[in-house]
Amino acid sequence: MKPSPARSTNPVYFLPKSVGIWLACGFLSMALLHLLCCSPRGAQEAVFTQVLQYADDTYSKFRSRGGGQRCDYSEGRWVWAPGHARRYNATVCDVKEAQDCLRNGRPDTGYLDWRWQPAGCRLPAFDPAAFLSAVRGKHVAFVGDSMSRNQAESLVCLLTAASPYRVVHRDPVRYKRQFMRWAFPTHDATVSVYWAPYLARATGKSENYSMPYNLVHLDALGDRWASDADTMDVVVLAANHWMLNPAVYHNGSEVLGAHGHPELNHTEIGYAAPLRQAYRMSLERLSSGRSRTVVLATFSPTHFENNRMDDPTACDKKEPYKEGEKELNSMEKELRRIVVEEAEAVARRNGPSGAVRFEVLDVTKLAAMRPDGHPGPYMNRDPFANGVPQKMPTDCLHFCLPGPVDTFNEILQQILTKRQ
Ligand SMILES: *[C@@H]1O[C@H](CO)[C@@H](O)[C@H](O)[C@H]1NC(C)=O
Ligand SMILES: *[C@@H]1O[C@H](CO)[C@@H](O)[C@H](O)[C@H]1NC(C)=O
Ligand SMILES: *[C@@H]1O[C@H](CO)[C@@H](O)[C@H](O)[C@H]1NC(C)=O
Ligand SMILES: *[C@@H]1O[C@H](CO)[C@@H](O)[C@H](O)[C@H]1NC(C)=O
Repeated sequence: MKPSPARSTNPVYFLPKSVGIWLACGFLSMALLHLLCCSPRGAQEAVFTQVLQYADDTYSKFRSRGGGQRCDYSEGRWVWAPGHARRYNATVCDVKEAQDCLRNGRPDTGYLDWRWQPAGCRLPAFDPAAFLSAVRGKHVAFVGDSMSRNQAESLVCLLTAASPYRVVHRDPVRYKRQFMRWAFPTHDATVSVYWAPYLARATGKSENYSMPYNLVHLDALGDRWASDADTMDVVVLAANHWMLNPAVYHNGSEVLGAHGHPELNHTEIGYAAPLRQAYRMSLERLSSGRSRTVVLATFSPTHFENNRMDDPTACDKKEPYKEGEKELNSMEKELRRIVVEEAEAVARRNGPSGAVRFEVLDVTKLAAMRPDGHPGPYMNRDPFANGVPQKMPTDCLHFCLPGPVDTFNEILQQILTKRQ
């Protein structure tokens, strides 16, 4: 845990604002001069990052004196911060092997050296002790698709730095991880993940990958998470990706339509309406029962750059995108917007004094800018042990652990601990 700096050790507090800024500028220009004439490139970058960090810190201290303003973490950029994401050993905290990129032999580790810098404030690094204190006695549930599991496993790994966990439940089919629960006995806290890629009740492909499509019931919730809903104090919902898969949608016995499966001759209803309905139904359920915080995570885009899932180079970038280098496409924007709108709508319906707090964990932009953070071919162990084949399974959707998804939890922490 990082104690907040005592005032007496922080000279900036004793200076008028203008002097502090001039000092920062002076330091900056001296450091730049030094860099330009004398240092090797690696050292240059390190010094430069430290200078930027100092300037950022100084700036955010001035800003935070104004106080009270909520920070928008959704806009910003990734800045080089050596080691920022090297926080745990994913093998030790037993994440899904397909996301344990270091174990699987990914040779480049530069993707662990970036920190998200929001546009108008500083995002503090994850503080496991503070997070556990915030969820003491509580049940934190991640409900949704495999990105939801990716974030849950990141959280468990991050928390192990402060407290040991016990696995309370895991799927009998070990690789599936459709329902897992971890306990942190020191704080009487539990973290669960519920596989519910449509939030709604679904059978077919989402249960058995060799089936051609899904049958989704837009009048009923996924059974396992819905029956546990009354035990959940913090719920993080993330279910977008499967809405793009082929499915037939039902309301009771009535067929509402289908998406992506024209051979069945049902009306094509797209992905937007089912997504809205699934979120609306879920939020309705979570609006009653107990006082809690419901967090809606927005769409985390994929980076299959050439639209091929079996190409080992589909996501082989080594650095984040820079501002303006990559824009979201209209579908990605829409998937994000629907979730934001449904969060706003349910907050309005429940009113400001409601017992349930609704928040958006808006990760779309920060995730979109990290094409370098996916396992790619390193979803399998030592994929190039026998040379480089033309085709091999590649994951440009989930993030390596540790990796960019840890930032989702840094923001989740701010959401859970901020003043209300
Ligand atoms: C993580 O821990 C495992 C098991 O203890 C060890 O074999 C491995 O080298 C560690 N990985 C890293 C990246 O430190
Ligand atoms: C999965 O679906 C396939 C194709 O329909 C079927 O042959 C298989 O038995 C199913 N597996 C399970 C475990 O239900
Ligand atoms: C399902 O049918 C019921 C009864 O006709 C109707 O009230 C409801 O709006 C329908 N739901 C959807 C998602 O179409
Ligand atoms: C869909 O319509 C086509 C053309 O009318 C027909 O040949 C086909 O059998 C229909 N498929 C189903 C599953 O009803």
